[in-house]
Amino acid sequence: MSQPASVRIVEVGPRDGLQNEKAIIPAATKIELIDRLSRTGLRTIEATSFVSPKWIPQLADAAEVFAGIARDPAIAYPVLVPNEKGYERAREVGAQEVAVFTAASEAFNRRNTNAGIDESIERFRPVLERARADGVKVRGYVSTVLGCPYQGEVPVADVVRVAQRLHALGCYEISLGDTIGIGTPARARAMLHAVALEVPIAALAVHFHDTRGQALANILACLEEGVAVVDSAVSGTGGCPYANGATGNVASEDVVYMLEGLGIATGVNLPKLVETGLWLSAQLGRETSSKVARAGV
Ligand code: HMG
Ligand code: MG
Repeated sequence: MSQPASVRIVEVGPRDGLQNEKAIIPAATKIELIDRLSRTGLRTIEATSFVSPKWIPQLADAAEVFAGIARDPAIAYPVLVPNEKGYERAREVGAQEVAVFTAASEAFNRRNTNAGIDESIERFRPVLERARADGVKVRGYVSTVLGCPYQGEVPVADVVRVAQRLHALGCYEISLGDTIGIGTPARARAMLHAVALEVPIAALAVHFHDTRGQALANILACLEEGVAVVDSAVSGTGGCPYANGATGNVASEDVVYMLEGLGIATGVNLPKLVETGLWLSAQLGRETSSKVARAGV
């Protein structure tokens, strides 16, 4: 079994985590969260999303949040954009990296973005063109890679095709999302293996929600398949309002703890990350989902 020497964690808590909160979190709290995360050694922090505020009111303050954070030049702060309008809003406040998102399942993509897969990719085309001209990096997400809340099973061939299209369009990295946390390790590994036959493994990331407690096992299987970029959310917050029953992302603290135990470098200071996660759960008024944080590292 091989494994990478180091892994880059893409911290998605401020976006994937906070987009699903019932209560509206003040912008100042979001800014403080990102600033605290910036001091933990993370190199990529997804800050917010410039989607329609009617669809995701939780992140309607994206511009205020992005403009308010103390950006560390050594850290990338990607933001989600669904279309050219989102790109323009993100650029107005100085975003240097954006992420576009579609799905392997037609039904989910319609619920999430009011567009079919092809139509959503057409919306990205001008975003990628402008990003190339502006020197902005673009990450791509494929959702529902191991199952869909509306369609059920999702053929691996559909995941491969969508990932390949995003890569061909110019996304430097494709994050493969188990949106509803339905996958198990052998299926996760087989899916990643199939995608990696068409898109270089160095351009792939994995994104697991932990709905059924399988996320760490799935990540381990994917590490053995050679992936070296893992998305996770501090305190295990998260979920997609358009994916029924999906719960939080795998907790960043638990991922870092596992990686350290495997001798895989992350550059993240675990005690500082745990402290940040506990601070966040206090702000949200509930217990952290990170088992490592609960156990006291
Ligand atoms: P639509 O209603 O079909 O869009 O939504 P539209 O183009 O017809 O526009 C409708 C209104 O929205 C217009 O305003 C537009 O100006 C406005 P009105 O004229 O009615 O006042 N609008 C915008 N406003 C601000 N920023 C924008 C924007 N675009 C349009 N960018 C749309 C289509 C894609 C915009 C909508 O469906 C949307 O925003 N969806 C986003 C849903 C979302 O954010 N989901 C969660 C993120 S994905 C996820 O969590 C999965 C992931 O974590 C991976 C995984 O776990 O699998 C990434
Ligand atoms: Mg997600």
